[in-house]
Amino acid sequence: MASLFKSVAATAVALLLACGAEAQDTTTTTSSSPSACATVLKPSYSAPVVADGWKAQLIATDLSRPRGLKFDTKGALLVIESGVGLKHLTFTDNGGTCLSVKSSKTVITDKDLNHGLELSQDGKTLYVSSASTVFSYTYDPDTISATNPTRLITNMSHPSGGGHVTRTLLLSKKHPSHLLVSRGSASNLDLPSLTESSGVSQIRVFNISSEASSSFPYDYPTGGVLLARGLRNSVGVAEHPSTGGIWSVENSADNVARGGRDVHEDNPGEELNAHGPVPTTTNDNNNTPNNYGYPTCFALWSPSSAPSFSTLPVGTQFALDPANDTLCAAMTPPRLTFPAHTAPLDLKFPPTKNGSVEEAFITFHGSWNRAAPAGYKLSILSFSPSSGEPVAQRDSIDALRDVMSAPDVGVCGGREGGCMRPVGMAFDAAGRLWVASDATGEVWVVMRGGEGGEGG
Ligand SMILES: *[C@@H]1O[C@H](CO)[C@@H](O)[C@H](O)[C@H]1NC(C)=O
Ligand SMILES: *[C@@H]1O[C@H](CO)[C@@H](O)[C@H](O)[C@H]1NC(C)=O
Ligand SMILES: *[C@@H]1O[C@H](CO)[C@@H](O)[C@H](O)[C@H]1NC(C)=O
Ligand SMILES: *[C@@H]1O[C@H](CO)[C@@H](O)[C@H](O)[C@H]1NC(C)=O
Repeated sequence: MASLFKSVAATAVALLLACGAEAQDTTTTTSSSPSACATVLKPSYSAPVVADGWKAQLIATDLSRPRGLKFDTKGALLVIESGVGLKHLTFTDNGGTCLSVKSSKTVITDKDLNHGLELSQDGKTLYVSSASTVFSYTYDPDTISATNPTRLITNMSHPSGGGHVTRTLLLSKKHPSHLLVSRGSASNLDLPSLTESSGVSQIRVFNISSEASSSFPYDYPTGGVLLARGLRNSVGVAEHPSTGGIWSVENSADNVARGGRDVHEDNPGEELNAHGPVPTTTNDNNNTPNNYGYPTCFALWSPSSAPSFSTLPVGTQFALDPANDTLCAAMTPPRLTFPAHTAPLDLKFPPTKNGSVEEAFITFHGSWNRAAPAGYKLSILSFSPSSGEPVAQRDSIDALRDVMSAPDVGVCGGREGGCMRPVGMAFDAAGRLWVASDATGEVWVVMRGGEGGEGG
């Protein structure tokens, strides 16, 4: 990966230049260059490294645990501040990555909102989620107001009150009246999630059109249509823009032992799972194998962690007891496996004008259950425009290319605010990628066209 990045010396030069990580020719650029950005913010920690061909800039700070991002129809940025509510931000846009906050207004005050955010195609209905409930609001981007809160889906809290609490929302573009809701497990190894009726560790699809309003609020475990189950905590969920296939990224288990041997440092891997198109009726799913294994089967990342793994390819599903591996044959394996504990939290396909989808972006929030920290980065995954699938083979260990990453990931573990921890992403109308970092209270903007170096 090191070859992707500029040399230390070039990085230092880039740092001296005005507009963040935008790489410029030092022979023609001075501090009074017309391309200089007058509003550069500097992170309070070691700035992320930006790969060759990219530039990145910190453009908003002092947010309260920003998670989900979305642009409204006027180009304003909507941000879920976990534990606070929904904020509306506008920016002064000087082009490229040179942006600065112009206005800030809290639109919804609700301390239970924590991640999920969607907007209808006409931009007039907002969808937000708490651990227990999905709400819709009537949204007016001119008056910047959200009114008429309505409970669409309930009963998503875990009996323990804890567990995984985000409920990622995805409004299908192919079926705009269908909202996908991802609900993770109540615990690390959640045995009650084995039964489908638990409604745990699932992605379900709900008809939220106004004609269906007599069904509101749906009961999550029994309402809607099951898309997938056996997913420990799939926080990033995306619809492929041309095929309409649903993809998700799963946060797999901690402290895992195999046959009594501790393998948790490098296993199981995090997963990219393929779910096929959005089912709109239960019949659509009749013959779809949709159990992805959890809490029985996990994806192998490092075969060298245990002798019982040694001959198995990366991505093979294994059971905690090797004698139970046969149970995994009936489960759907991941399409790709990522390093253990890197914690993928969002997956986004860029908007496409010609229908040709060549990549997806994934945020890796970073590890806690690992001696050497891993993750803390934004990566890119190549997709094949013809197959609609990742280019990489199932057992690939190098499918990701980093776009932004911590200069010394070793310092990231356990130091809240010490590294960027990317979460939600959104593309703006200009194709720039905006990324929230909850632990540092920031929003970054990322785009192609730089020569890498240090993010501003
Ligand atoms: C949503 O539900 C309503 C009310 O049952 C129904 O009329 C409509 O056809 C459903 N929409 C889709 C796309 O299934
Ligand atoms: C939520 O679950 C409780 C307990 O199972 C049930 O009594 C209640 O009807 C459910 N709520 C809805 C809206 O279905
Ligand atoms: C192995 O499978 C059996 C039968 O399904 C189950 O009861 C047992 O808990 C499993 N063991 C482990 C360690 O998962
Ligand atoms: C589609 O557009 C992208 C840029 O947006 C370009 O890289 C790609 O080559 C185009 N593909 C086709 C098949 O035209």
